[in-house]
Amino acid sequence: MSIKVLGTGFYVPQRVVTNDDLANMVETSDEWITQRVGVRERRVSTDETAADFAIGAAFEALEASGVSVEEIDLIIAASITSETICPTVAGAVQQKIGASCPAFDINSACSGFLFALDTAVSYIMRGNIRNALVIGAERLSKIVNWTDRNTCVIFGDGAGACVVAPGENYLSSVISTEGGDSVLKIPGYSGASPFYKGITEDPFIFMDGQETFKFAVSRIVRDIKYVAEKAGISLDEIDHVVTHQANIRIIEYASKRLKIPMEKFFVNIDKYGNTSAASVPIALAELDRSGRLKRGDNVVMSAFGGGLSSAACIIKW
Ligand code: UT7
Repeated sequence: MSIKVLGTGFYVPQRVVTNDDLANMVETSDEWITQRVGVRERRVSTDETAADFAIGAAFEALEASGVSVEEIDLIIAASITSETICPTVAGAVQQKIGASCPAFDINSACSGFLFALDTAVSYIMRGNIRNALVIGAERLSKIVNWTDRNTCVIFGDGAGACVVAPGENYLSSVISTEGGDSVLKIPGYSGASPFYKGITEDPFIFMDGQETFKFAVSRIVRDIKYVAEKAGISLDEIDHVVTHQANIRIIEYASKRLKIPMEKFFVNIDKYGNTSAASVPIALAELDRSGRLKRGDNVVMSAFGGGLSSAACIIKW
């Protein structure tokens, strides 16, 4: 026994910020961003939080699944940009949708949604719960340095969610972490203790782009091969690949190395940029709505990022 996906949902803020908008703020161009990253525009919050996005995505996933709020036994949200450490994003969702189940957050940066999904699967397989709401939600615009062209052109805000229940469709998975902060780091608030003599840093995303790029390509390839082999299916039998939307060139490299045609990779980085933990569930929800998913299709999901972390799984739709 494992799980099946009953419904998906996503929510993005209204405000569109184009590459030309950013070219008015930092030294960059639509041409550079489109060619080197693949982003044309992203959504940016003007007054909503990661929890607000999560609530929007959760309502949509609940409606799509046909599961009532009373039937949700667990809520897990992946986020690195919760407005409050406590209550969590998952706690805010629990309150707003009117659920009474346990709710907690997971932080594994851009791989967070797949870590959260794997955690929900474990609870379901133990038989403790039936239906779980799994969410990835981010307001990355909060931790982006808007004067740093190396990072501000990449990221965006939003949330994606799905409702899962006992089933036989989670064929295999892998999660992994390689601790360290030299490649990707997001310092938190270090407090105002008069006793603390440690380092205080700017609370913005630091990323060594090229190192992250190499890590990303190697992990997508390694993880997808691993989960396919574990599930006993060949790479040819994969029908859809939903990866973290970090850079179109990463996806193209993965397609080439895995010899899986680009047509099987779902791409929406052009519209939303990199939304970290929200990226994979937003893409899954859009794929779900595209009409391209058929019952029985093998859907591979793969994510990588801060931690450094990576994760992948295969779901039979
Ligand atoms: O979600 C977490 C996971 N994140 C990722 O997977 C991100 C992985 N990394 C990347 O996607 C890419 O490394 C970036 C998009 C971050 C950067 O692209 P790149 O092709 O690796 O660029 P680069 O850092 O090697 O810079 C190339 C050139 C440099 O100029 P010079 O030194 O060659 O003259 C940069 O200064 O491009 C310049 N540059 C820019 N130019 C215009 C860097 N950022 C920009 C910019 N606009 N926004």
